[in-house]
Amino acid sequence: MEDFGQQRGGVRIAVIGGDGIGPEVVEAGVRVLETATEVDGSPPLSFTRFPWGCEYYIEHGRMMPEDGLETLADFDAIYLGAVGWPTVPDHVSLWGLLLPIRRGFDQYVNLRPVRLLRGVESPLAQPGTLDLTVVRENTEGEYSDAGGRMFSGTPHEVVIQESVFTRRGVERILRYAYEEAKGRRGLLVGATKSNGISITMPFFDEVFREVGEEYPDVGASLMHADALAARLVLDPESFDVVVGSNLLGDILSEVTAAVSGAIGIAPSANLNPERDHPSLFEPIHGSAPDIAGEGIANPSGAIWAGTLLLEHAGYPEAGERMLAALEETLAGGTRTSDLGGSASTEEVTEAVIERLRSH
Ligand code: NAI
Ligand code: MG
Repeated sequence: MEDFGQQRGGVRIAVIGGDGIGPEVVEAGVRVLETATEVDGSPPLSFTRFPWGCEYYIEHGRMMPEDGLETLADFDAIYLGAVGWPTVPDHVSLWGLLLPIRRGFDQYVNLRPVRLLRGVESPLAQPGTLDLTVVRENTEGEYSDAGGRMFSGTPHEVVIQESVFTRRGVERILRYAYEEAKGRRGLLVGATKSNGISITMPFFDEVFREVGEEYPDVGASLMHADALAARLVLDPESFDVVVGSNLLGDILSEVTAAVSGAIGIAPSANLNPERDHPSLFEPIHGSAPDIAGEGIANPSGAIWAGTLLLEHAGYPEAGERMLAALEETLAGGTRTSDLGGSASTEEVTEAVIERLRSH
């Protein structure tokens, strides 16, 4: 653990770089965050690094210390790079770090804003037109461990995994989505599958309509997730906010991230909206072992995740300026190779910092 000595007070951020390109992009993000708050005159952020991840696992047999969650609980936010490395099975790294954080801190909203930034090409959308947010339920639904396997390996094998939809869980994610839509363009689409999944999904639909009565100004509709996936590809500009259960939201947010151009750009926030616990901000990409250590990783996803952190911390203007500086940088041609450019991580980061300073 290292404390870089910034003033206490202000926002306290736990930084988990993780594995591969994780630390590379997250350190880029830290520098941009520092500049953004400095030029904005916001209280300084303080960053404390935790060297948790697969290397830590090889040494200690755990992805983070036993009291890791207690340590993180003291912070206002968690800023994460990526976790996972070929020497450790992916389910070990995921269940040993990210999932305990998401569940332990009741981060029930997974928020994934999608916009096509200028300077990024998408075969499917025009720059400036695509601007939507996917709200995914992050703690229950289809991702449950209720179930079991009987008569393993025999012709009579039976495998059952139950979905868990609670009224509290469904209501709170839908209310969050309606609020999000209310603060944006006022359009909400709920992802359902109540034609085939005849118990949980009609319940989801029912609560969607119930909560909707509190939001007469939001234009809300339900769509079956398969048709919705197709429309996200064919007509992504028509969406504002999309909300889905854990599984449907996971798949649909991946579709929209792909539509927006590149995996190196998209951010995500895992939110505990009540702020009883810290929320976590990360790029959606992984540790990219194929390019780790080369200094060419795209820092955009981490930087954009940093803007979500600032917004959550109460500095939305600084966050907006940061995103604008990133967009101008990409539009100006300073891009990493995944976006068809030739700039290094460092060059993109410096260019964003430069633009923040010159505004
Ligand atoms: P990945 O996202 O790491 O890489 C997929 C492809 O995209 C690779 O070709 C990579 O070079 C490229 N890429 C990803 N991010 C990039 C960036 N910022 N700049 C330039 N190119 C980039 O996904 P993959 O390969 O499936 O997973 C690698 C490891 O990461 C696995 O151990 C996986 O479990 C972990 N992972 C962790 C996540 C997290 O921490 N939330 C999310 C996804 C994967
Ligand atoms: Mg996913």
